[in-house]
Amino acid sequence: MYDLRKITDNITWVGACDRRIRIFEGTYPIEDGMNYNSYLIADEKTVLVDTVDKAVANNFFENISAALNGRSLDYLIVQHMEPDHSATLGELVLRYPDTKIVVNQKTMGMISRFFGFDIESRAVVVGEGDTLDIGSRKLTFVMAPMVHWPEVMLTYDPVDKVLFSADAFGNFGAIDGSVFADSLDFEGEFLPEARRYYTNIVGKYGAQVQMALKKAAALDIKYLCPLHGLVWRKDLDKILGVYDKWSRYEAEEKGVAVLYGSVYGNSANCAQILAGKISDKGLPVKVLDMNVKHFSHAVAMAFKYDRIVIVTPTVNAEILVSMDTVVRALAGHNVQNRKIAVIDNGTWASVAGKSVREILGGLKGTTIIEEGLTIASSLKEGDLSVLDRIAEEITA
Ligand SMILES: Cc1cc2nc3c(=O)[nH]c(=O)nc-3n(C[C@H](O)[C@H](O)[C@H](O)COP(=O)(O)O)c2cc1C
Ligand SMILES: [Fe+2]
Ligand SMILES: [Fe+2]
Repeated sequence: MYDLRKITDNITWVGACDRRIRIFEGTYPIEDGMNYNSYLIADEKTVLVDTVDKAVANNFFENISAALNGRSLDYLIVQHMEPDHSATLGELVLRYPDTKIVVNQKTMGMISRFFGFDIESRAVVVGEGDTLDIGSRKLTFVMAPMVHWPEVMLTYDPVDKVLFSADAFGNFGAIDGSVFADSLDFEGEFLPEARRYYTNIVGKYGAQVQMALKKAAALDIKYLCPLHGLVWRKDLDKILGVYDKWSRYEAEEKGVAVLYGSVYGNSANCAQILAGKISDKGLPVKVLDMNVKHFSHAVAMAFKYDRIVIVTPTVNAEILVSMDTVVRALAGHNVQNRKIAVIDNGTWASVAGKSVREILGGLKGTTIIEEGLTIASSLKEGDLSVLDRIAEEITA
């Protein structure tokens, strides 16, 4: 049975949730599912904004059919070609062969990389600032290249003042009841998974997000309609505010992410003791054991806080694999403007600390504090004063 949600009188959510998905994009563990949003605008013409992942194809096609209520589908806007929003495009074309597909030039090429149907004859090609007249409204297209694919574009409806924002402003997690973000507590329920979603999926492209935010600032926006997560219609500053910080690589708050890996427990012991000392100095601290936590949580915490502590054993003359992944993910996601402390651990020749310093040392605006510690297998009484100094410096 269909499940339609009204966004405005003329705009209906026709997306669907997948609560069984455990790993999003084959990479990110999620506990509360995922939703794939799609929106139908019913004006003199009917317009669908994006399709959905194949996992929810059945619900999606029922929803479109119900929302169209016997009308034909005139246009489909493809805002980007990542398969979580386009895997059902081939089937949509079979079901609605007369639908025109609104794309930009880059999207054209991408469609033929994924699908064999004839896009040329169906395409309406648009560029920055172009409009599509659908009756009482002219939809406007805003290019947002590399947020986070090259062909990304956003769509603005000047009548209902809606920005269809592609993957921007989305989050992990299926919707509970209401499709609107104001139905839940922003800091408590919304922010953690929005942060993990943004930082891991879009985080590398801060400069491009800044450009998109500048374009958005020029629009009068009442609704933000992303492709995942919830629709914003109140307090838009909250979500725009954190996106602005994340994309400028500015921490949300002062605090320390203590990221460690450990084989026998001695590096864990060190991380725990140091975290206590940091906390005693009054800063919030989050400790993550990266042998049990997915690296995406480390990336999220590194964006939240302005300070990071890395504690890792040396294994086979390398950084412990889980910590190697973390350190490279921080660099790969362009983490900047952070203060970092590095502690390593080895029984015969510890080299992990040096490697971590090499990888993170070049990050823009980032300082690695001079004072370090190489644990010789397990912490000794004499190491505690070194930890005191590291706590002092990282919290200074
Ligand atoms: C597979 C393996 C390889 C290791 N390779 C090294 C090494 O190359 N150099 C070194 O100093 N210690 C090496 N170690 C020893 C650990 O780094 C060392 O015992 C460390 O104290 C472990 O810290 P933990 O108690 O937090 O796991 C290795 C340990 C394992 C399990
Ligand atoms: Fe995407
Ligand atoms: Fe997506």
